[in-house]
Amino acid sequence: MKFNKDFLFGVATSSYQIEGAAKEDGRCESIWDGFCRQPGKVYMEHNGDVACDHYHRYGEDIELMRQLGVQVYRFSIAWPRIFSAEGQYNEKGMDFYKRMLKELKSKGIKAAATLYHWDMPVWVLEKGGWESRECVNYFVEYAKKCFEELGEYVDFWITHNEPYCAAYLSYYTGEHAPGVRDLARATKVIHHIMLSHGEAVRAYRRMGLLAPIGIALNVQPGYISEDTFLNRLALNNYDGYTNRMFLDPLFKRSYPADVLNLYAGAGRDLTYIKEGDLDIIGEPIDFLGINFYSRHLVEYTPDNELLFKSARSDYPKTAMGWDVSPEEFMDLIERIRKDYTDLPIYITENGSAWEDTVTPDGKIHDEKRVDYLVRHLEVVSRMVEKGLNVKGYFAWSLLDNFEWAFGYSRRFGLVYVDFDTLERIPKDSYWKYKEIIEESRK
Ligand code: FCB
Repeated sequence: MKFNKDFLFGVATSSYQIEGAAKEDGRCESIWDGFCRQPGKVYMEHNGDVACDHYHRYGEDIELMRQLGVQVYRFSIAWPRIFSAEGQYNEKGMDFYKRMLKELKSKGIKAAATLYHWDMPVWVLEKGGWESRECVNYFVEYAKKCFEELGEYVDFWITHNEPYCAAYLSYYTGEHAPGVRDLARATKVIHHIMLSHGEAVRAYRRMGLLAPIGIALNVQPGYISEDTFLNRLALNNYDGYTNRMFLDPLFKRSYPADVLNLYAGAGRDLTYIKEGDLDIIGEPIDFLGINFYSRHLVEYTPDNELLFKSARSDYPKTAMGWDVSPEEFMDLIERIRKDYTDLPIYITENGSAWEDTVTPDGKIHDEKRVDYLVRHLEVVSRMVEKGLNVKGYFAWSLLDNFEWAFGYSRRFGLVYVDFDTLERIPKDSYWKYKEIIEESRK
């Protein structure tokens, strides 16, 4: 594996998944707190009250990063810590990020901060959440405060993590907070999230800060096994739903008309898209973040409004049931280069969940995660070699953590967390990653 000397290796986490300290220092309720209390929403009603207790153990976690040898850490800021009510800035919450970032800098690690990794204050949801255009203003106010207070420590800004999930999983399939199932509402949510991205970038530029700013999308390449007209239609719709709906407004200043026409079956009022909005969403950014886990095999179905469903695939699968598909990772980046942009790309997430067991002598031999990591990094190194302008890679995740609707039942960490004692144990994949990073610096 070969990487350029300036290639950045990192790890990624997010606030609700690791921080805990749910009631400390003026943090207000997050939409995930309440969602976790609703029976049947999250595995065994797990919640983020304690999570990895990173809020108190960040020193230990940063030491794990230093030992690992990563150059950059991607984390997210919890909006409920920063604004505890409308117009009510909470300095104590911001202080946590300052403490954490100072510690990070003291170890020579760069910081990539995500503003929205699905952790919304309940007071914002009560005002309509992303369904309301007002939410864009609340988000921009929050973003500006973060830029102002943390600008001196942050090396990369990411406005949103995976608008796909924040819109569809939260408002269409209902798997994520707030658990709505309505495609028309999800479509509106997409628009307001994308608009808030563009407005935040504009506000950032006006403040004259220099660190690069971008967004992280979970672009997922689709495939069909039997090449028929109906399957090609299904694939078109899958790609529109998953990828073009987010890439087109960012890079082409428009939404894909076929997708909006398809969504009209669920609701025809699109008047929330105001003239000029697409120019705001298309405000130039400095890099594109790509989260990649898996390809997706689809086929035609007459049973839902989108006319596609997941197809049975014979690829090996992770504990999430996701195909292990490193070669398709290359297809994805090449497609983005061909259809969308030459901007630098950072792989802002990539990783895999497996069932880990701790050996009697306290080790975790996670060969499958090692294999997944190595095979994906090999592909990333080929991307670099091909001159595809891929400039960094963040492993998801540093720690086992709260995996949303799956609670603590899915482990993605390079470091094992014992959720009873909160002890951290580096897995074999952690040591392998360290070796790869060291090797690349020679
Ligand atoms: C991504 C999310 C991240 C984590 C991984 C497994 O979709 O961004 O928070 O849950 O999946």
